[in-house]
Amino acid sequence: MKASRKRQPANLSIKPQRMGFDFSPQSVPRYWADNDPVLSHFLNALSLSFPDGEQFFVDSVRHFRDIVQDEKRQKEISGFIGQEAMHSLEHRSFNDLLALQGYEALTAKATGVAKHLIRMGQRNYSPRTLLAMTAGLEHITAILANAILKNPELLEKMDESVRMLWMWHAIEETEHKAVAFDLYEDVSGDYLMRVRAFLSGSLGLGIYASVFTWRFLKQDGMHRKPWKLLRGGLTLGKLLARTAPDYLDYLRPGFHPWDDDNSELIARYKAIVEATIAPQYRKVELKAA
Ligand SMILES: [Fe+2]
Ligand SMILES: [Fe+2]
Repeated sequence: MKASRKRQPANLSIKPQRMGFDFSPQSVPRYWADNDPVLSHFLNALSLSFPDGEQFFVDSVRHFRDIVQDEKRQKEISGFIGQEAMHSLEHRSFNDLLALQGYEALTAKATGVAKHLIRMGQRNYSPRTLLAMTAGLEHITAILANAILKNPELLEKMDESVRMLWMWHAIEETEHKAVAFDLYEDVSGDYLMRVRAFLSGSLGLGIYASVFTWRFLKQDGMHRKPWKLLRGGLTLGKLLARTAPDYLDYLRPGFHPWDDDNSELIARYKAIVEATIAPQYRKVELKAA
């Protein structure tokens, strides 16, 4: 076992849970995050990248999972794969809602671009590099999750109809934040490759999120409302700036995701999320326990 594994909280459990979220255009407002078009559409753009992005993470990890001998870690990898599969499913429902809100062409375009970029990456990079990219992108999802969970006021500003989707996803991203990283350390551990893949993955995701956030805003005619754009841009900028130290921490040699032990956040929100599991999926949870 690598030294880094010792930093993982002992009581961590990584179990997939289908939530059965049901989003209807009647109950979800267009600007569901803080009544703010920029923040809502930024999160919408991220959501559009999730179904294919998370399948990519699963493929990258699955490729190397057989090198892991430890039974507990194999269970964690299974948990990671199951959790990402559930995220893809639930975000697909959310993305279907966006299509019903009048963004059908845009959601189709964004998911098409995500698929294309991932396919291109898988064709041109080695499985090791793809795993390094997965570990890096998982770090980004983990720090965004941390920013969401550490700011209850942000969660409160999300409309009730979708708040649980983001809270649940953020909890599970925190639970499994080291799985791809630890596997990468076992497979290669090469620092330069880790950093290069992280920076290029960040750039790709950053461009993708910016382009599609803008396209949502433009479709709403927000390019003609500079004050609304400025207000939203500042809110989003502040949120992202708060994650900058965590983002940069990944560049430190010897970094490990659990150097920042934020596992208390999982406990804080888990009971709230569990109360919102759709009745038909509760049995699955009992069997898994
Ligand atoms: Fe996820
Ligand atoms: Fe993840």
